Amino acid sequence: MEAFVALFLTTFALVLGAAVADPDLLQDICVADLSSGVKVNGFPCKNPSSVGADDFFFAGLAKPGFTNNTLGSLVTGANVEKIPGLNTLGVSLSRIDYAPGGLNPPHTHPRATEIVFVLEGELEVGFITTSNVLISKSIRKGEIFVFPKGLVHFQKNIGMMPASVIAAFNSQLPGTQSLAATLFAATPTVPDDVLSKAFQIGTKQVQKIKSRLAPKK
Ligand SMILES: *[C@@H]1O[C@H](CO)[C@@H](O)[C@H](O)[C@H]1NC(C)=O
Repeated sequence: MEAFVALFLTTFALVLGAAVADPDLLQDICVADLSSGVKVNGFPCKNPSSVGADDFFFAGLAKPGFTNNTLGSLVTGANVEKIPGLNTLGVSLSRIDYAPGGLNPPHTHPRATEIVFVLEGELEVGFITTSNVLISKSIRKGEIFVFPKGLVHFQKNIGMMPASVIAAFNSQLPGTQSLAATLFAATPTVPDDVLSKAFQIGTKQVQKIKSRLAPKK
């Protein structure tokens, strides 16, 4: 019986261990020195004598962000770049606001699984597996949806009112690659013939998409 319990606990620990996205920490805190020129995996720790409560604090998700942009959505990050105390802790949040019809376009987070909680409104959300299966659902206030690590996903406001979610990540800095911008607005630009062949369209159409998605000066 004891052996069984030990086996169960070991298996449980292994499963938990395997689910960790960022590396585990080796000390209580390692508040990021964001201005350090030293490059490590994450950020170097600042001097503990200058660490204070504000290193672990952020008020930037308290209010809705402006959604008056082309896509009608805004992601406000609460990651290690905003909260230096998150360095080495392996978690972060975002707030996403959506105008009616607003879209957070298909994108991936290379370093984290995401779990969203709907604050307000109704959204169509989904992700696509590596077998090219779309897993999607409409979710509303108080409900939760999960986007597994690395998979392409999106959210769209399908209600008449503004919508918002809180998103949690198992990484201090999940990273985002938004597919349309990644392919059509990279610097230097991805060659037209590459995109033309990949999408089976003409280079004129490639150039049209590129001009629409070009970063606004
Ligand atoms: C969005 O709205 C805010 C507040 O009204 C304004 O300050 C900002 O310039 C607007 N942005 C765009 C892109 O229109």
